[in-house]
Amino acid sequence: MIVSPSMLSADFANIQRDVEMLNSSDADWIHIDIMDGSFVPNISFGLPVCEAIAKHAKKPLDVHLMIVEPDKYIEAFKKAGAAHISVHIEACTHLHRTIQLIKSVGCKAGVALNPHTPVHLLEEIISDLDLVILMSVNPGFGAQKFIEASLSKTTKLKELIIAKNAKTLIEIDGGVNLETGKKLKDAGADALVAGNFVFSSQSPTDVIKLLKKV
Ligand code: DX5
Ligand code: ZN
Repeated sequence: MIVSPSMLSADFANIQRDVEMLNSSDADWIHIDIMDGSFVPNISFGLPVCEAIAKHAKKPLDVHLMIVEPDKYIEAFKKAGAAHISVHIEACTHLHRTIQLIKSVGCKAGVALNPHTPVHLLEEIISDLDLVILMSVNPGFGAQKFIEASLSKTTKLKELIIAKNAKTLIEIDGGVNLETGKKLKDAGADALVAGNFVFSSQSPTDVIKLLKKV
């Protein structure tokens, strides 16, 4: 299992310390949640903080843009250290164009789906995607309760990927812990984002180890 701890739950007064903890852990990626107060009802942090994280990070930055008009900022996030850039399908009128733009700057391209958004909307674009983020909570906040319907959605997405012979990875974001993580693995998830579960624990590195082995 690929594990992508979310910096949204890190201590922002100790970013370097928390990034170094992730560097020394078994985490595969570092998840960066960008919120604009418009697409989602919360503001997290933006480009300068992403750059500050990148300065210390030794793992790929998995950037999740919860913003309107993401095309405007793709190049800037690449410059700020992003390895993956995922945009929300609900925020993109010309999704195909946005995905090509992400690839043209040299990043892996992902699409995120809100809990109500059906998987079949990806039918014509799945082969172009490096990853799909299925939101298993409504985006905007950490530490929310996992939405159980995300399990059958994961299975549906896995079926679509297999049917299209695509290589797209399935990443699940929101309410992930050992219990939901295990069920998600069985449903076909390749990667798990975990914020609160990792950072509120006494030993984040041990929790990351356990998530890798769900
Ligand atoms: C939610 C974010 C998530 C969040 C997950 O809007 O996209 O990445 O950090 O947090 P937990 O793991 O605490 O549910
Ligand atoms: Zn996220």
